[in-house]
Amino acid sequence: MTSTAKTIVISGGTDGMGRALASTYLDRGDTVVIIGRDAAKAATLPGAHFILADLSLASENRRVLEEINARYPAVDALVPCARYFRSNRFVTAEGVARHPTGPTCYVLINPGPVSTSFAGDYDPATAAHVAALQRHGAPVGEGIKPIIARLDNLTRHLLRSQEK
Ligand SMILES: NC(=O)c1ccc[n+]([C@@H]2O[C@H](COP(=O)([O-])OP(=O)(O)OC[C@H]3O[C@@H](n4cnc5c(N)ncnc54)[C@H](OP(=O)(O)O)[C@@H]3O)[C@@H](O)[C@H]2O)c1
Repeated sequence: MTSTAKTIVISGGTDGMGRALASTYLDRGDTVVIIGRDAAKAATLPGAHFILADLSLASENRRVLEEINARYPAVDALVPCARYFRSNRFVTAEGVARHPTGPTCYVLINPGPVSTSFAGDYDPATAAHVAALQRHGAPVGEGIKPIIARLDNLTRHLLRSQEK
């Protein structure tokens, strides 16, 4: 690990763009924490720190936050790539959760259609649309480029402001 190595937390880091980002930052020597529900997928990313969690549950989000706070002195970037699309409304056993607030810098990036796993539970019409997105979406390696550019800018900016 280099002295400029970062700690990057990627929810949904087991598949799609999250996985590709995890692989990119692992190759750079960063500490990469991935969160997902599938340990077998996580095992395909040796070196990543895996936290098994179902993030559809607020209690699981809190548990993951506690684990990250306890294990890592600092987190340089959180990349929220976990998603699960449902064609039909689904309410977890916990009901509807409220989002926490705090001193966090949010960066919203939409890379356009990218050919990923599109994790979800689709009705037939949506499944056909998703299949078309998978056929015509950009390769994952292209989809993560704007995300890497923003993450790198952000972490450079943070490092500079810490040096002042
Ligand atoms: N693909 C596109 O065309 C596109 C375009 C614009 C924006 N985006 C956004 O880009 C991000 C990544 O999308 P993607 O297409 O790369 O994703 P993806 O291939 O569908 O993968 C989804 C990821 O979310 C995780 N996940 C799903 N439900 C979860 C849960 N309940 N708890 C924890 N983890 C869960 C999955 O992990 P497990 O299987 O391990 O649970 C998997 O790693 C998402 O925010 C998406 O909305 C995608």
